[in-house]
Amino acid sequence: MSEPPRRGRFITLEGPDGSGKTTAARHLAEWLRSRGESVVLTGEPGGTPLGDEVRRLVLHERSVSDDLDPRADALLFAAARAQHTARVIQPALERGEHVVCARYLDSSLAYQGAAYGIDADAIRTLQRFATYDLLPDLTILIDVPVEVGLGRKRHGEWNRFEDAEGVAFFEKVRKAYLDLAAAEPERYRVVAGSGSVADADALIRDLVEPVVFGR
Ligand code: TYD
Repeated sequence: MSEPPRRGRFITLEGPDGSGKTTAARHLAEWLRSRGESVVLTGEPGGTPLGDEVRRLVLHERSVSDDLDPRADALLFAAARAQHTARVIQPALERGEHVVCARYLDSSLAYQGAAYGIDADAIRTLQRFATYDLLPDLTILIDVPVEVGLGRKRHGEWNRFEDAEGVAFFEKVRKAYLDLAAAEPERYRVVAGSGSVADADALIRDLVEPVVFGR
């Protein structure tokens, strides 16, 4: 009988809006592939047809997002996350592939929990349910000052957060992430995202190297 494949590593990138997670995730996946690893590159909300639909509804459909109850919002992100975990992330890890994911449960802890003020225990319980208790092996927080992140986002596609929420909201998100990272130093690492893309890529590769290649 052949051995089951060695379980893949699950790496998430987190950070406030405009921190550069999506680009960093893509570069990380390309680097791992160049080293011969199999990688599933994904992100939330998204990664499945349900996730894409939730993304469209909660971020881009004004008739939904203009008056969305915070608990309904949290449940929609959680539903998308459950589908993504069960159908994409967990199966890939079991096949022995690594998963690089831009945003995961910590986004809900920071946004729905800290920034929107939903009770932290309730949000945590919901995340455990939605993820089947699957935690990343490594979470990289790309930290940027709020003005830097928002300045970058102004050039991107509209989403509800950008006109509904002021700087104070994004300060809460940033602080929440830094608190989460400090509370779980085993899982979390923080990199500065205000320099060049190449600088952030290099810092991230140094953090991922021992997790994937065991050095
Ligand atoms: P994203 O597309 O990752 O935008 P960016 O790359 O600029 O960060 O995320 C879209 C928005 O969705 C972002 O403002 C944060 C929000 N979000 C939540 O509030 N909760 C969640 O659980 C997730 C995954 C995202």
